[in-house]
Amino acid sequence: MMLHSHAKINLALDILGRRPDGYHELKLIYQQIALHDEIEVNELPQDEIRLRCSLKELEDEKNLAYRAAALFKDRFSIKKGVAISIVKNIPPGSGLGGGSSDAASVLRGLAFLWKPELAISDLQPLAAELGSDVPFFLHGGICLGTGRGERITEMRPLEPYHVIIVKPDYSISTQQAYAKVSSFNQGDHAMRFAKDQDLALMHNDLEAVAFSLHPELAGIKKALGEHALLTGSGSAVFGLFKGEDEAKRVYAQMKEKYAEVFLTRTINPRITRAKEMGFCFGVKRAIEMIGERDKAEQVAVLGNLVHNPQVVESLRQEGVLFVTDAASVRVKRVYITAHGVPDKVIEGLEKRGLTVVDTTCPLVKKVHAASKTAEAWGRRVIVFGDPDHVEVKGIVGNLRNATVVRSPEEITPELAAGPVTLVSQTTREVAKFEAAARRVKELSPQTEVIDTICFSTKDRQASAISLAADSEVVIVVGGRMSSNTKRLQEICAQRTEAHQVESAQELRSEWLFGRERIGLTAGASTPEEVIRDVELAIRLLW
Ligand code: C5P
Repeated sequence: MMLHSHAKINLALDILGRRPDGYHELKLIYQQIALHDEIEVNELPQDEIRLRCSLKELEDEKNLAYRAAALFKDRFSIKKGVAISIVKNIPPGSGLGGGSSDAASVLRGLAFLWKPELAISDLQPLAAELGSDVPFFLHGGICLGTGRGERITEMRPLEPYHVIIVKPDYSISTQQAYAKVSSFNQGDHAMRFAKDQDLALMHNDLEAVAFSLHPELAGIKKALGEHALLTGSGSAVFGLFKGEDEAKRVYAQMKEKYAEVFLTRTINPRITRAKEMGFCFGVKRAIEMIGERDKAEQVAVLGNLVHNPQVVESLRQEGVLFVTDAASVRVKRVYITAHGVPDKVIEGLEKRGLTVVDTTCPLVKKVHAASKTAEAWGRRVIVFGDPDHVEVKGIVGNLRNATVVRSPEEITPELAAGPVTLVSQTTREVAKFEAAARRVKELSPQTEVIDTICFSTKDRQASAISLAADSEVVIVVGGRMSSNTKRLQEICAQRTEAHQVESAQELRSEWLFGRERIGLTAGASTPEEVIRDVELAIRLLW
């Protein structure tokens, strides 16, 4: 598995005093930037930790990434091994937090591989044990750090900035820099920055020490413009720029003098959930109906109940039988899927003396009723939907002469000859159904259109449209058999990159690389726990 380990800059760093444990009490602002190391974390069958690093001097057991793997394995008693491979882009000894970020990535990667149920907050104590900066890298974005720097509070993001970083050809030891600090302040630069987010408040108490060790750093800071500062204990100095042209101009100037100069930008990843997503009323109702059964009695479900593998699996675990045809029902009580079946199937079961509990969504029942009435009035019914989907099979199973069309183009003049009633599978895409309605109206003056797309589908699709418009990538959570989930994925994919996953384990870190605006939505049959697991995994992987 590939991970990106982003660097940080400190927009403020106040040292409040020396603590009894030898550390210093801090208030500081961390800001994540796009510059990153690349880390590959792969499981090994044998119990060992292997580390490869593009900088050979960092390839040993002292590397924080190695120690992170050892700590994780120890804390969770994991007997499997791991191979870690690091490509360094963040210069070590610069105050950009490269080593701490690599360690946090190893924790995130191992949690995804071995402990997917863990939240970022569960990894926090391990991160703090590894180093004061490591907890920040589990969060990213912009945070206030307190204590030794390990206590993290998320902040409102700043507007984006271009960042130029100059790393001179010497490093500064963090330990030595702190040891030289003699005066302390009240921490109000960081606190005021957190409140006002005014760049004029940028300040670093370690500058005095670093500048006395290396006087040229003060000159670099001056050359980097109005909003420049030493990051951490240095030796890197950064400048923030609003305009890209100005940033490029200063970058070119600094490149002439210094070997290690970076032009990067601030990043603030965030996950936005669609306004409407997850369980719809019909799915909730079906799950509640089967939940109310007498658990001592064995029952069967005809069909999938709802199209979600986790829901079906948890009912199976409770002993519920799932059958695909009515003839194979061998128990006394049978539940009908929320997608519905033709009336004759229910009649057949009742004739055999079985108790039938019909969980068919009332909104699907409305499609049954409307289409049966239309046919009784001598109209030809056209169903806009997927002929292989059980809901559509249930609708047409009640009709003598219905036609199913997947797209407006399938509506031919012959099909629309005479009085026609157009209905829809409840979970189709609204815009496509509207196109089908226009087409059939053009072809037949006697067309009746009954919009049977359900309100939950409409709400979820509208939410997905606005989510996709504001996201660089959208993750759609739901069963592969679920029609409404597939529609959400299609709707999002028309507007941005979109991927459907059934579970957190299907997420790929590559989808998230470099993305700051990540959208999350879910089909009408996706349980909240599954959505939450995916959200946790996104946080682990980005
Ligand atoms: O926590 P971490 O191992 O990254 O810190 C490196 C060194 O920096 C510490 O050993 C300590 O000397 C100094 N430090 C400090 N106060 C802090 C953070 C770090 O004195 N809050």
